[in-house]
Amino acid sequence: MERSNRLSSYPLLRFPFLLFLLLSSSAALTAATSENANKGASFSAAEAEAAVSRFQEYLRINTSQPDPDYATAVRFLRAQADALSLESDVFEFAPGKPLLLLRWPGRIPSLHALLLNSHTDVVPAEPLKWVYPPFSAALDPSTGNIYARGSQDMKCVGLQYLEALRRLRAADFAPDRTIYLSFVPDEEIGGNDGAGRFAASEKFQKMKVGVVLDEGLASPGEEYRVFYGERSPWWLVIRARGAPGHGAKLYDGSAMENLMKSVEAVRRFRAAQFDLVKAGVKAEGEVVSVNLVYLKAGTPSPTGFVMNLQPSEAEVGLDIRVPPNADTEALERRIAEEWAPSSRNMTFEFKHKVSVHDLFGKPAITAADNSNPWWMLLEEAMKKANGKLSKPEIFPASTDSRFFRERGIPAFGFSPMANTPILLHGHNEFLNKDEYLKGIEIYESIIKAFASYKGDTKDEESRAEL
Ligand SMILES: *[C@@H]1O[C@H](CO)[C@@H](O)[C@H](O)[C@H]1NC(C)=O
Ligand SMILES: *[C@@H]1O[C@H](CO)[C@@H](O)[C@H](O)[C@H]1NC(C)=O
Repeated sequence: MERSNRLSSYPLLRFPFLLFLLLSSSAALTAATSENANKGASFSAAEAEAAVSRFQEYLRINTSQPDPDYATAVRFLRAQADALSLESDVFEFAPGKPLLLLRWPGRIPSLHALLLNSHTDVVPAEPLKWVYPPFSAALDPSTGNIYARGSQDMKCVGLQYLEALRRLRAADFAPDRTIYLSFVPDEEIGGNDGAGRFAASEKFQKMKVGVVLDEGLASPGEEYRVFYGERSPWWLVIRARGAPGHGAKLYDGSAMENLMKSVEAVRRFRAAQFDLVKAGVKAEGEVVSVNLVYLKAGTPSPTGFVMNLQPSEAEVGLDIRVPPNADTEALERRIAEEWAPSSRNMTFEFKHKVSVHDLFGKPAITAADNSNPWWMLLEEAMKKANGKLSKPEIFPASTDSRFFRERGIPAFGFSPMANTPILLHGHNEFLNKDEYLKGIEIYESIIKAFASYKGDTKDEESRAEL
């Protein structure tokens, strides 16, 4: 998940982890571990150990922003691909930011391809706040938890794809559709130089991708979470002007006074949206979130600010997240008329504004119902692997999926981690080894279903001609 969103979206992330530590004393944990062990039953002990050690090896490569070791990661992944006889290619859509593309050709080239996307970079970690060093991938023998930055976000997914292909290869599976794996850079700093440039490339067009899988979130419960869209960031700056004046004078129309009226309106709106989430009427991803991220005003002096002067300018920065189905016209009207009315000498400017629509003007979402055969295949494949999906959700922040959805390509955000506290970007990020192994089986089932789906071949062919 993109870095800039994390703190505002998940202020309580660390709390569940503490809870988890408190609760995980012996009995509860032993039960959970033995149950998980059964889930990975289709791996021999040797296979399980080898898969886990490959995962650890990937985790030990320091691909932390701002200076990720992409070269080592690509070398490692390419060696894995060679061992599986997958075709591989490295692209630098942005210099110094390699993207590794793997390919397993399908039997029916006219069918659209399946793309399994994952990013290779991770967010930085503060080693002193971790129980185990963040790039050690230490496996706690008493719990089976593997601690590492990237264990959830999202090196697990990248290698689970590969391990699933390894098992499908071993079972002599032959895909009808071509399967691509993209290992992309840059996601944690916005993704524009990674998945962004990739999705916009000629190469990508030629791949004829019909469906994409990308990252989701861990789930503390038994059910796996799946995301079919995400909120669009609108980063808004509102500026107020007003007559400057003596700090002792009461008068109307100062910049501060004008801005505070807006801040109050923003706060009321925020509280109303948040109330919908608190009351369980809407999920987090279904409301417009607004958070104040900075306030800027005052007249600087050598010791701080001039205290007896009301300034002539003041501004506020807002991080707004807009769900794909939101009434954006109404929101824009609210901004222009209530939050930054010119009648109050206010102006506004978007620093960053991602459309909630795809390039064809439709809401950038992937249908998660029976109108979409990929959705039905996903549900069925989960069932076959004894996994349960929870109600599909809108991702509260941003992932690389948006670059594919905006091109009208169906994309699901899904990281197979149940029974796992959400620790992405947090201290002591970990994934249990049995959950990891279970996730491989789940991908095996999904990839098999997707790559064997022949659908309406003619329909796809004619679409490809357009
Ligand atoms: C990982 O790489 C980052 C640079 O992106 C560096 O600051 C950090 O110290 C490295 N961590 C370790 C454990 O080598
Ligand atoms: C807007 O600015 C003008 C010119 O400075 C001023 O006369 C007017 O009173 C201001 N209006 C408000 C509502 O602040």
